[in-house]
Amino acid sequence: MEYAKMKIYIGSDHAGVDLKSQIKTRLQDRFEFDDAGTFTSDSVDYPDFAHKVAENVLSDSGSIGILICGTGNGMAITANKHAGIRAALCWSPEISALAKQHNNANIIVLPARFISTEMAMDTLNAFLTAEFEGGRHQRRIDKINI
Ligand code: RB5
Repeated sequence: MEYAKMKIYIGSDHAGVDLKSQIKTRLQDRFEFDDAGTFTSDSVDYPDFAHKVAENVLSDSGSIGILICGTGNGMAITANKHAGIRAALCWSPEISALAKQHNNANIIVLPARFISTEMAMDTLNAFLTAEFEGGRHQRRIDKINI
């Protein structure tokens, strides 16, 4: 019997386009990717893609997203303008696991220019397999929105 693959919303700017392709290729057996772009190395503006992925995650309850730019900061800063988005800039498996366990992050942000592909994959896999711990962490999350 075939099971539907979980959908992941993904997007990058030009600095992250190669890592985005690597992620999609390596995880295509496990996940369906809804790719908001960009699709070439032509220079683009990261907010255009951060907003799209943030809106997609918010409109699909319980879903998660991946955003990639050079440092990760532009994507994280933009996505976190959306109430209900918890975008976490992650560069190690420990940080990404904690971003899910403690912060229930719904978008992982990767810094393409400061992380190897292998470390990015390990960081992403840790995020995808970790589970939110709830309890006191939910109480803290409930205090985030203003
Ligand atoms: C693009 O040159 C770069 O500014 C962008 O990828 C990102 O690092 C911004 O935060």
